[in-house]
Amino acid sequence: MDGRTFAIDLVRRSHEWAERYVAQEYGRIRARLRARGLIEYCRSLMWREYMVGVHVPAKTLVLLPDDAQDLKLLLTRQLLEEWKHSQVFAERVRALGGDGDLARYAPTPGDWELYYGTYNWSHPVELVVSLQCTGEVMITEMFKTLVDPKRLLVDERTAAVIREQILADDAQALDSLVDPETARRLEEDVIPDEGQHIRYGRVILERYAASAEAQQMALHVQQRKMAALQVSHGDLVDRVLAYEA
Ligand SMILES: [Fe+2]
Ligand SMILES: [Fe+2]
Repeated sequence: MDGRTFAIDLVRRSHEWAERYVAQEYGRIRARLRARGLIEYCRSLMWREYMVGVHVPAKTLVLLPDDAQDLKLLLTRQLLEEWKHSQVFAERVRALGGDGDLARYAPTPGDWELYYGTYNWSHPVELVVSLQCTGEVMITEMFKTLVDPKRLLVDERTAAVIREQILADDAQALDSLVDPETARRLEEDVIPDEGQHIRYGRVILERYAASAEAQQMALHVQQRKMAALQVSHGDLVDRVLAYEA
């Protein structure tokens, strides 16, 4: 399979997986992200956007060869935008009454699982599959769902589950899961960039995953990353729900 077809197919698989996974997590988090739970969520995202979003593209940029300046420029743009995302979450933490100082945040085992599951690869193909082509597909789906849970109703099978399990006992099930200002910042300052980052990863993958060996390596990393995402994201949802209790 040529690199471009392979890359498009790999990202498509991430989208299909992310839609299923986010729909399942949405069922758990429907009690809403409020008060301390929302602050905890935003603090973790402040750390993740910086640690994963900035460090991983920086590592990829250094590993790419000198003849890939066009790709290095895309990664530079990405890491600046990820720093901005980290600051968006820090601002929301402070506005909600929490500690928005990145240096004082104590990462949980789930945060580290996500970081090491993304950073600890040594080839650019592995790094972009892990971050842009799998992780960012999932986080974009999650952010979009937090802003507008109605998007889950496009898929009839998921819609049926939500109607049965959620709508029956929760009249606000289709309202935004976060407060209006956090939803606005996600929609305006975060989600549009994430779509571009997925594309950057696909373009890099296209160029370096032309051989059967590279494609095997990419598929292996995608599987590993989906598992790391379930651990790290499940941990985050558990933490939010602990505050709701
Ligand atoms: Fe981001
Ligand atoms: Fe991103």
